[in-house]
Amino acid sequence: MSVHDSGAGRKPKATGAKMTRISVPDLVARKGQEKIVCLTAYTAPMARMLDPHVDLLLVGDSLGNVIYGFDSTLPVTLDMMIAHGAAVRRGSEHACLVVDLPFGSYQESAEQAFRNAARLMKETGCSAVKLEGGRDLAATVEFLVKRGIPVMGHVGLMPQSVHALGGYRARGRATDEAAGVMADAVAIAEAGAFSIVVEGVLEQVAQAITARVPVPTIGIGASADCDGQVLVTEDMVGLFGAFKPRFVKRYAELSDEIESAVANYAAEVRTSVFPGPDNVFGSLKKSS
Ligand code: KIV
Repeated sequence: MSVHDSGAGRKPKATGAKMTRISVPDLVARKGQEKIVCLTAYTAPMARMLDPHVDLLLVGDSLGNVIYGFDSTLPVTLDMMIAHGAAVRRGSEHACLVVDLPFGSYQESAEQAFRNAARLMKETGCSAVKLEGGRDLAATVEFLVKRGIPVMGHVGLMPQSVHALGGYRARGRATDEAAGVMADAVAIAEAGAFSIVVEGVLEQVAQAITARVPVPTIGIGASADCDGQVLVTEDMVGLFGAFKPRFVKRYAELSDEIESAVANYAAEVRTSVFPGPDNVFGSLKKSS
């Protein structure tokens, strides 16, 4: 029995049983049956903490903002995604692993997309790639899927198009824009994407897309009716203070905890309280 058959969604501890990673078809089968829990991860230690609790680990290009300090995802490179994807793979054994294709690595042609997606899969061991785009990218999605690369789509607010879209505002407020987001999702699903991230759209639009497409939708700033949810982990645990999107729910305030720990450490170093007797290697023994 694989861990996802158990329904518990938890890693069995100390049974000696080899973990089975949740597969792309496993996720597809969840549509309308069981919610898909997804979080972003960029490093092995974070992946280790999240892996027992989530179904899907996404190595998102949001790492450009969150850990590299860029003001958008545009500077992120394929090499960065490969390094972080491989680290997350080493730190996990249960969740399905999806890695983002960064800006500029797939938009030029279907062949460019295949070359870079194949590299991402070979060098990280991920099960699928994610790319942003709707109707304009449908032919590329089809090209990849037909050649054995599972693709997760991403429609609505697409951060790689921040300049073209004129900012990070929610999509689908006007009826023609809502119809456009729906057409994007349908085109990507028809092209063979196994799942679609729906980001930053009105609730009604996300609900309508979820009802219309046959593959699981993963919402972020979308609707509880999506087939799954994703958040940027650092947003969710209060580790990324630069910007908090309205839709994020904070489940912890780790920045505050870290700041207070660091202030304590600094004070103890300055007053020679640290290192104490437990933090040093004792005294010299006389040699015989
Ligand atoms: O880059 C990312 O982390 C993402 C998720 C927020 C969906 O695309």
